[in-house]
Amino acid sequence: MPTVLALETSCDESAAAVVRAGVVLSSEVASQVEEHARWGGVVPELASRRHVEALPLLVERALAGAGLGLADLDGVAATVAPGLLGALLVGSVTGRSLARLAGCPFLGIHHLEAHLYAALLGEPPPAAPLLVLLVSGGHTELIALRGLGAYERLGGSRDDAAGEAFDKVARLLGLAYPGGPALELAARGGDPTRFAFPPGRISLAGGGFHPYDFSFSGLKTAVLREVQRWQAEGQPLPVADLAASFQAVVTKVLVQRSVRCALDHGLPGLVVVGGVSANQELRQRLGAACGAAGLALHLAPLAWCTDNAAMVGLAACRRLAAGQISSLELGVAPRLPLAEANSLYGPPPF
Ligand code: KG4
Ligand code: ZN
Repeated sequence: MPTVLALETSCDESAAAVVRAGVVLSSEVASQVEEHARWGGVVPELASRRHVEALPLLVERALAGAGLGLADLDGVAATVAPGLLGALLVGSVTGRSLARLAGCPFLGIHHLEAHLYAALLGEPPPAAPLLVLLVSGGHTELIALRGLGAYERLGGSRDDAAGEAFDKVARLLGLAYPGGPALELAARGGDPTRFAFPPGRISLAGGGFHPYDFSFSGLKTAVLREVQRWQAEGQPLPVADLAASFQAVVTKVLVQRSVRCALDHGLPGLVVVGGVSANQELRQRLGAACGAAGLALHLAPLAWCTDNAAMVGLAACRRLAAGQISSLELGVAPRLPLAEANSLYGPPPF
């Protein structure tokens, strides 16, 4: 398996890593979270500027950490989809330039495929066929994985992503950005049964509910109404109970629908990746439900759940080993679905 320098700039983490044969030799991450926190969320223009500033030094440190130079690389990879347009462009142009300088192939990587390969760092590593639950700030999707690049979307959120719901509800509760970790902390010691928030089901035209789709916007509105009720009464917000009740319903529906989807489709294992998979309540519920259903559960190690470049490098090693490379003229695609990740290899699709 090849040695790859990988870059990640799709959102608010600038990162560079060197990966050889599925082993992470070095991984450097510069988080912009504190800066965006001042604005209550990611400011795209600011994110791009910070990537421009941070990336050269991160690349230098990643190469030095691995004890390698450009001449030792078999490929340079960068996340090119999906994500913030300007932010993706920084990684794309840096990656293609470095590949040209190093005289090795360039690989554009789909960010969600990268999250998926973070699970490969877990023990035991997962093997297809599997169901993937991808829960991040921008995505909540259930995807059947039948082999490298063989993805089928089976369900997902019709509105807000799970991480986005955590971030928005945390904001309503006056917690810091990013909301996921702050809300998890606030929920500790809270009563998860105090408030009965709606489980966000999608009605089917013929009656009943969609078995594997999610909706988190109604849940967010329900929390807002509750917050407004307390504020109108001049009462201090029961933050811990609100946070615990919200977290309980989100983690419960994520687990229930994922397990049902895996069983219905005869997929023997479940892989859970993306920033929200760092949530301890989600991890505990998944462990219990998969155990009861006889499903093998694969969780990415905590350190690799949020954005990093090592996962980009792992995905790139797989693509390169399969003989797939991208055009040096490949652009970026802020909204490309995972099912279209194969289009990043061969002649430029966009
Ligand atoms: O995968 P990621 O780092 O970036 C995206 O590609 O979106 O995910 C970030 C999201 C944010 O919405 C953040 O609030 C959420 O993951 N998150 C969490 C936790 N840690 C991060 N949500 C719930 N509990 C956590 N412990
Ligand atoms: Zn991500």
